[in-house]
Amino acid sequence: ESVLIHAGSGGVGMAAIAISLNMGCKVFTTVGTQSKKSFLLRTFDKLDSSMIGNSRDTSFEWMVLDHTAGKGVDVVLNSLAGEQLQSSVRCLADGGRFLEIGKVDLSNNSALGMAFFLKNTTFHGILLDALFQVSLDNPEKAEVSRLMQEGIRSGEVRPLPVTVFQNTQLEEAFRYMATGKHIGKVVLKIRQEEPEKIVEPRQEFVSAISKTYMDPGKSYIIVGGLGGFGLELADWLVTRGATKLVLTSRSGVTNGFQELSLRRWRARSIEVLISTTECTSQSGAKKIIASANQLGPVGGIYNLAGVLRDGLFNELSKESFEEVSAAKVRGSYWLDMCSRAACPQLDHFVGFSSVSCGRGNAGQTNYGYANSGLERICENRHDEGFPALAIQWGAIGDVGMVMKDLKGGNETKVAGTLPQKILSCLNSLDVFLGISTGQRNLSKPVSAVVSSVVLANKGVAASTSSAVNVTISSIVANIVGIKDIKRAGDATLAELGMDSLMGTEIKLALEINLDLVLSPNEIRGLTFTKLAEMDNRE
Ligand SMILES: NC(=O)c1ccc[n+]([C@@H]2O[C@H](COP(=O)([O-])OP(=O)(O)OC[C@H]3O[C@@H](n4cnc5c(N)ncnc54)[C@H](OP(=O)(O)O)[C@@H]3O)[C@@H](O)[C@H]2O)c1
Repeated sequence: ESVLIHAGSGGVGMAAIAISLNMGCKVFTTVGTQSKKSFLLRTFDKLDSSMIGNSRDTSFEWMVLDHTAGKGVDVVLNSLAGEQLQSSVRCLADGGRFLEIGKVDLSNNSALGMAFFLKNTTFHGILLDALFQVSLDNPEKAEVSRLMQEGIRSGEVRPLPVTVFQNTQLEEAFRYMATGKHIGKVVLKIRQEEPEKIVEPRQEFVSAISKTYMDPGKSYIIVGGLGGFGLELADWLVTRGATKLVLTSRSGVTNGFQELSLRRWRARSIEVLISTTECTSQSGAKKIIASANQLGPVGGIYNLAGVLRDGLFNELSKESFEEVSAAKVRGSYWLDMCSRAACPQLDHFVGFSSVSCGRGNAGQTNYGYANSGLERICENRHDEGFPALAIQWGAIGDVGMVMKDLKGGNETKVAGTLPQKILSCLNSLDVFLGISTGQRNLSKPVSAVVSSVVLANKGVAASTSSAVNVTISSIVANIVGIKDIKRAGDATLAELGMDSLMGTEIKLALEINLDLVLSPNEIRGLTFTKLAEMDNRE
């Protein structure tokens, strides 16, 4: 049979070429550079130089059709995307098989066109990672393993060339792979080869950045879940795996954004219960926990209820203290007491506190007092071995009480802090949850009270200091692997060799640093001149 193998100098490409040549197939392949072509010709003497095409454009289509008198090949092993995928489809002969191992077009749900099948062809989506996730007795995995062992015995399967990075060089390794300059495999060396093989190898620790995941089988309670931060937190929990939510609020659904959020979650089969029961009494807290337990064992309780009754200290009434403390102190107390027995599978008990407690804030004595009460409850729980975390937030940006009740913006200073953008708050939360559940190795004992603030004066100091000079241009240059930005001129990022992996990283960097949401096409069209303009504006 004849076969077209894309990206022939990569790990999969070289393995496929070796096996196909061994089976006596006629092999067409593609590579991105002349040096990779020379490397393949040196490595596989049965390869024909006129049958090695370019993987960076669609000229390989003519190469294949020319060599096969317009018939095409029996098998295509494809990892190219977009136009090149469509060209590869046209390279297939009558009755041919198309093996898709790339993920870009599958993930983007790209159109294929039914006319493809008029040639009696088949299209296989192959997700090798899925093969490793399923149970050990999976027959396909056993078959792959058998073929590998047979291949190793017969010499058909041979070790591939590798470029080795140390286990501390994860970023460098990925950046090197993303530039597409490598040949064969890029690997991380996790441990030194041991001179003597022992059955039970020595334990090795590799530092990693943990990520918090929610259990789809458990339920998650957010008190104050229909507020600004509450809706964002609920959405974040969903992106991290939660499928069952209980959101409480005294007034229930009152605006269009709350309704839209509910519709979006329900469309994704997320079970969301809205409860107007207050947690400020024993019976209320019990009822909320019981309704959550009906959806699934409670995995998290987050107290985000907040009421502001600001005023100068001598003007604050006893009632204002009671109102502000109701959900934060009495609510947290009853949620703590009732969850101890009713929530044996609880992973998180989180109270949202504020710098008004940690640093103090003029006009917020009652609010500071209430947050202090909430923190002490979390500390007690922590001391008694129950999950507990209180987060002292500075001002929060984009949503919530600073924006709504104080009619502020992302520049409003509160207690010496600037609003922390919500995406950044969620990143902090991820770190804190990782620490409190012991996913992160820390040398010191962990406190139940943590803090996340953007100091207003520190921000000014940093932006005027020449030592700190992280611009969006420099971030993008690091991702694309460009050392001298000036030489990039007006070339677009696509022309500079940005691939989809880099594109995703740049998209995230723009969203986090500039709050700028761009489509993949807009990112492909960016130039360093435009990025410099963004830096100047910022
Ligand atoms: N935004 C900030 O800058 C900031 C800074 C530091 C700390 N925090 C803390 O972060 C949390 C979230 O704040 P946010 O900015 O999202 O404020 P938000 O938009 O005002 O949300 C707070 C929500 O709490 C609900 N609530 C009040 N009392 C309740 C009770 N007894 N039971 C159930 N829900 C109750 C309110 O809804 P109903 O009126 O319908 O009950 C409101 O939607 C609060 O605990 C706040 O103290 C916020």
